[in-house]
This record gives sequence, structure tokens and C-alpha cells, in this order.
Amino acid sequence: MNKEELRSAFYGVFGKTEEPPVTVFSPGRVNLIGEHTDYNGGHVFPAALTIGTYFAARKRKDRLVRFFSGNFPENGVVCRSLDALSYDPEYGFSNYLMGMIFALQTVKGFEVTAGLDVYLWGNIPNASGLSSSASVELGMGKVLAALFDFPVDNGELALLGQYSENHYNGVNCGIMDQFAIAMGKKDHAIFLDTATLDYQYVPIRLNGMKIVISCTNKKRGLADSKYNERRLECETALAELQKVAKIGSLGELTVERFNALSDEIKDPVRMRRARHAVYENQRTVEAVKLLNAGDVAGFGQLMNASHVSLRDDYEVTGIELDTLAEASWEVPGVLGARMTGAGFGGCAVAIVRDEAVDGYIRHVGEKYRKTVGYEAAFYVVETGDGTYVF
Ligand code: GLA
Repeated sequence: MNKEELRSAFYGVFGKTEEPPVTVFSPGRVNLIGEHTDYNGGHVFPAALTIGTYFAARKRKDRLVRFFSGNFPENGVVCRSLDALSYDPEYGFSNYLMGMIFALQTVKGFEVTAGLDVYLWGNIPNASGLSSSASVELGMGKVLAALFDFPVDNGELALLGQYSENHYNGVNCGIMDQFAIAMGKKDHAIFLDTATLDYQYVPIRLNGMKIVISCTNKKRGLADSKYNERRLECETALAELQKVAKIGSLGELTVERFNALSDEIKDPVRMRRARHAVYENQRTVEAVKLLNAGDVAGFGQLMNASHVSLRDDYEVTGIELDTLAEASWEVPGVLGARMTGAGFGGCAVAIVRDEAVDGYIRHVGEKYRKTVGYEAAFYVVETGDGTYVF
């Protein structure tokens, strides 16, 4: 969507005035490796995408905050107020937007002094696990910063996005999604240490290869999934280990140290959860080394191992994601494939040689239809920049 199209969609809903609306793009993200490590003090390796959410927004003279989603025109204009800043399940996606007002005011003390008219439209597949919610949070944060001149950079907006998700929307997510979306850089992924927030941009040089996302089309909600349960299992395992070892997070453990200590975890399921967190973190560090050395095949092998660990130890895959990953591994020309995001539905990501992409989509699509009973969707994606005003 270009600026003119976005502005005219905005005018179509909210009417034209002399002052044009501010326009913002906020991407979706894909995580290449490092899953369920961000709330365990480990590493992640996500990239922002060129698909995302477009915003056009203008200040109002009163205290109403009005939203119109071009994706859900049937909902009409959703009307909220600056004087009612609390989560309301009746209002669906607008909670992510109101949550950013709440976060900016609560954490930074920045007062949103006027209401807003906000038009948004996105091309991230719905409920795909490509972080449409973090995309809209960051987009709204940028809109507010631009309209009210709040001195806040994208790194801070990422933390505010996570704060709003945790404290306004009640989802106990880590920092990965908001960080990737805020800080993304075209042709790069972000190697982020979630314990320190130190990060490096790693060039994604996939000469002759594509990143292909396959989407389960299974509906899921992070809040009502087993996400928070997994967090608790890891926290409990960490507390057991802390009785005998001086560690602050599972991310501090090497595989060897974990194996020496793991008998302290008194429940076998919890031991497997912690094992995933430790092994996946080490795998992510190793994978980035391989990629930096130009070894995409080695990187792909670790993507596959990541899926196996998420399937067997962390148990967040299910028949849909397993079918996508396992069918992917059967295709010559696939360097690696795994689920991405929280799991329990959502998407898988694969690195596929250019000439194999069509056959890949055919094979995995057929296998998915036969096994799961409905269609998967496929997207060849590109990495892009973090949230920006344009
Ligand atoms: C979701 C959360 C992230 C992260 C992933 C799993 O996307 O929002 O913080 O925990 O799941 O890696």
C-alpha cells in the first residue's frame, strides 16, 4: 500500500482535512531459530518482513480514539476513549492499540493529550504466528510518538510493546516479537541475547534460496494456549536448579552443565521443557556461527533439530506443524524447516532452493491436505526494515 492509497483509504473513513494524516509501516516477523528461549534468558534469531501493518492517523479535538481496520470493514469504526484505558475483550484487536497508549503513559509518563482517528490495514495472514499483534502495537507506538513528539526510539517502543502485551492484554510474552519488529533491518536477521538485549545484525545472504512460510490455517490464541503454562514449567525447573547452582536463567547453562545438573529437576516433563530451553539456546548460538561462515546447509540442519526438540521436548507443535515440517524435510532442495513462533498452530518456516520452491509448495500442500483435512497457505517472504514513518 503506498502513501496515496493509504491516505485516501483514511479520508474515505474519517473525511479529509488540510493536515494529512501521519503514515506508518510496521512489519511482521519470522523467527529463524531460537524458539521459546526469549523468556529463558536465551538467544533468538528473528527477522522483520516486508509484509506488515500500514497506519494512517490524525489527532482529534476530543478524547475519543477511533479505529477502522481495512481488514475488518464489517466492524465499522471502533470507538474507544482515552478515559477508559483498560483491556476489554469486547473490543478485539483495538486492545493492542489502546495498550500502547496505556504503556506510554504508565511507563514513560508521556501524556496522550488528544484523541485520534486511526486507519489500519495489514497483509500479515491472520493468526499466522507472524506477530500481527506486535506489528500493530509497534505501529501504534510509532503513530503516537510521531503525532505527539514523544522522544522515544524503536528500542524503547519494543519494550513498551512487550509491557502493554504483558500488563494490558494479559499475555506473558517475551521480548522477541516486539524487538524484531521495531529493530528489523532489510536483508538481515537479528541475533539477540534476551538476557542483556545486546544484539547484532547478521546478513542473510541466501543466494539462490528463498524463505518460504507455510501457514497451518489453524486458529489459535496465545493467551488461551499453553504458552503461559510452558513459561511456568521453565520457571519451576529453574528454581529447582537454583537450589544447587548459582544461575539466573536457563540461558546461562551449557548443554554439559545442564546434563550434570538435570537430576535436580524432579519431574520428567519439566526436565524436558528445561532441556529444550538450554539446547535450543546453544543451537541458536551455533546456527548463527554457521550462517556467518556461509554454511546455510549446517544452519538448516539445526533448524530441523530445533523442530524436533519443540515437538518432542517442548511439545508445542501438533499434527499441523509437524506435517508441515516433516513434509518439508522430504523435499530435495529444502535446506531446513521448522515451526516458528509460539507454536500450537501458526506457521512453519523453510529455506528452499529457488528451483525447488514450486515443487515444495505442491508436495507440502498435498501432504497437508491429506493429513490435516484442509489447506495450508504458502508465502515466499523477504526480510525488511523495522517500524517506520513514511
Ligand atoms: C511468541 C512470543 C515470543 C516468544 C515466542 C516463542 O511469539 O510472543 O515472545 O516467546 O512465542 O519463541
